Amino acid sequence: MSKNQFIAHENVFDESTLRGIFYLTGQGYFEEVEGPISIGKESNVFAVLHKDGKRVIKIYRTSANFKKMYEYMKPDPRFAAMQGTKLSVIYTWAKKEYRNLLRAREKGVHAPMPFVVHKNILVMEYFDAPLLLHKAPKDPKKFYERLISELQKLFSAGLVHTDISEYNILNDKEKPVLIDFSHALDLRYPNVQHYLLRDVHNLVMYFNKLGLKLDEQKEFGRIWIPKN
Ligand SMILES: Nc1ncnc2c1ncn2[C@@H]1O[C@H](COP(=O)(O)OP(=O)(O)OP(=O)(O)O)[C@@H](O)[C@H]1O
Ligand SMILES: [Mg+2]
Repeated sequence: MSKNQFIAHENVFDESTLRGIFYLTGQGYFEEVEGPISIGKESNVFAVLHKDGKRVIKIYRTSANFKKMYEYMKPDPRFAAMQGTKLSVIYTWAKKEYRNLLRAREKGVHAPMPFVVHKNILVMEYFDAPLLLHKAPKDPKKFYERLISELQKLFSAGLVHTDISEYNILNDKEKPVLIDFSHALDLRYPNVQHYLLRDVHNLVMYFNKLGLKLDEQKEFGRIWIPKN
């Protein structure tokens, strides 16, 4: 990052996050911060420049509600050994999103490739595509079927997204890209079916408004495959 960039972002990043950014630039994950994409409640997302093109960094705020994060992650067998202190919870949360994305990508889910996670900073692939919220599909049926196929792949990766809506799906030239995997759960999580049903409910509501006639239970059955 150049000196000017440092000054421009001085007030945005805390000391430790700034050190993290310097570390990641030193490791070659990106060259500089281009600018903010989204300022969220728990995290801020920035576009960064890499020699191969744009990337995205998602920075979890150290002021995030870590108690809520802790309670949410505790029943996930992957994080059984997690400590409850503020920073370790927030770093685990960021690591969780990284691992979820990696698992999804390994099964061919159309989602950002995660490059690295360092403390509260996740570096991932950038998609030059609007949110579904801002760009409705031209052919809802076709887009919906593609989404079902993404959710089936995600299920085969042993994950449920749990925050599916037009806010967390990009419309990449009429192909869905799933984003925001921090809440995604392992299939071993208690009552995980309930979370999948909620995801399906959100999709069915959205697509039925666009003229489809989807039945929630039936659509749920296309994704959920009972064990044995
Ligand atoms: N890989 C990406 N490529 C392009 N834009 C992205 C990417 N990831 C995130 N964005 C943009 O940034 C916004 C916020 O990202 P995201 O949904 O992951 O975070 P959030 O909703 O603030 O999450 P959280 O609930 O974890 O705080 C998205 O709505 C999208 O516009
Ligand atoms: Mg989001």
